[in-house]
Amino acid sequence: METSLELTEKIMNDKIKILEQKKAEALLGGGQKRIDAQHKKGKLTARERIHFLMDEGTFEEIGMLVQHRSNDFGLDKEKYLGDGVITGYGNINGRLTYVFSQDFTVFGGSLSETHAEKIVKVMDLAMKNGAPIIGLNDSGGARIQEGVVSLGGYADIFYRNVRSSGVIPQLSAIMGPCAGGAVYSPAITDFILMVENTSYMFVTGPNVVKTVTHEEVTSEELGGAMTHATKSGVTHFACANEVEAINYLKQLLSYVPQNCEEDAPSLPYEMGNEIREDLNNIIPENNNQPYDIREVIEKVIDDNSFFEVHKLFAENIVVGFARLAGKSIGIVANQPAVLAGVLDIHSSTKAARFVRFCDSFNIPLLVFEDVPGFLPGTDQEWNAIITNGAKLLYAFSEATVPRITVITRKAYGGAYDVMNSKHIGADMNFAWPSAEIAVMGAKGAAEIIFKNEIAAAKDKDAKWLEKETEYKNMFANPYRAAERGFIDEVIEPKETRIKLIKAFKMLENKVDNLPKKKHGNIPL
Ligand code: HXC
Repeated sequence: METSLELTEKIMNDKIKILEQKKAEALLGGGQKRIDAQHKKGKLTARERIHFLMDEGTFEEIGMLVQHRSNDFGLDKEKYLGDGVITGYGNINGRLTYVFSQDFTVFGGSLSETHAEKIVKVMDLAMKNGAPIIGLNDSGGARIQEGVVSLGGYADIFYRNVRSSGVIPQLSAIMGPCAGGAVYSPAITDFILMVENTSYMFVTGPNVVKTVTHEEVTSEELGGAMTHATKSGVTHFACANEVEAINYLKQLLSYVPQNCEEDAPSLPYEMGNEIREDLNNIIPENNNQPYDIREVIEKVIDDNSFFEVHKLFAENIVVGFARLAGKSIGIVANQPAVLAGVLDIHSSTKAARFVRFCDSFNIPLLVFEDVPGFLPGTDQEWNAIITNGAKLLYAFSEATVPRITVITRKAYGGAYDVMNSKHIGADMNFAWPSAEIAVMGAKGAAEIIFKNEIAAAKDKDAKWLEKETEYKNMFANPYRAAERGFIDEVIEPKETRIKLIKAFKMLENKVDNLPKKKHGNIPL
């Protein structure tokens, strides 16, 4: 005869078995066959991705037993626990992070009403609790059988992406298909990572493209990782595989705060000899000879701390996170090794977006400047270099975080103003003795202002050279700007690191507020 205690325990055990069965069923997603097919494509499953992303044992799932509510097209007979997306929270390097991971084994990861509701739930939790959210996207788009409720679900997500923008960091990793309107959620988030060969993003796929424009193009060419990393700039990172993408996500988070009210985490740092002699040997004798600005960056920042963003897009400007004396900073640097570091449409928008991210999340900005001006030509003018160049000017001008500029060589024309000049609110402006701060290069300037003198000269070339030298001596240096206080200090390159450490420390408690407004009207 069972005692009542034993009976209670048996009843509970039976109930626990049912729970365990349901959990086991949910863990299988769309079933072993589809999991095997996913692996065969070289892809991880949604759960495996979370396993690699989150600190061991910290992931807590929300909504594991959710099912869709659709009865059309026989869907009432095809239900999967979790409905194609795994959602929840856990820690990444000890810090709370929310995540959703689309499960391609369930209806191709397509987004149903309930699938969307699960994503919305974690997005709302992330906002209320001030922590980053990561989306691992692998989806065939709107759940075709559900029609408009699926579209509504997307819009619910987009709306929250926008409301969360600038409040909590939002990261999107594209691990499979991401097509149609679905692309707009990642597009609104702060950073996109794509995996080479297994992920793609496009508004309309190759078939529609062929019908409408008669172009023949593969998915990979149209919207693969390398396409978006190099041509469109839609993705910030092209990763060799999913594990690399997950590692990048973790690294990225290590430089950013949990939300816009906090500071980014810093690493402990003990001051030592901060002089970097090698920096004195980087600028070539000939001012038209290129050099790699990454060499300067690497020598100034903490060892191996540069985490470059948008590396393969608009390479004439370099942006990324780094640490200086353990503190997280954002770097924007003209790249003389590509197109002489000129500012054009893509480099301006690339840098503007990065500056605005850093400013949203209290990450101080460091600018290295070596810029011959804006790129001339019909292509640039007709595609609105005016509007696009203005984005960078706007982004720097509205940024209230500590801002420091180091002019290593050229600071010509409008680009001098735009690249975080004193006039648009930079806090400290340093120049190396090699700096040339002028309206334009000496050769072009001499041609314009001494036109008549050169034309009248017997030896025109000699005259031109004489005038070029005259102009160069006058302006191809940092001292005119320093006389005016536009440059706070002319420093030896080798002192750059220590000067920056001290200046950023001095600016640690900077308070700067924008005038009261609803929001500005950045030229989009
Ligand atoms: C329902 C879907 C689905 C979808 C895929 N499946 N996409 N179910 N709705 N959107 C199902 C398939 O029926 C299949 O089910 C399983 O997922 C895997 O799909 P396959 O086609 O076998 O996989 P694969 O060959 O790898 O091709 C993947 C794919 C393709 C390229 C994503 O499935 C595809 O083209 N799907 C449709 C894409 C699409 O047109 N989506 C709507 C876009 S419009 P079984 O049972 O066989 O496993 C849109 C609007 C968003 O998204 C608007 C937001 C504003």
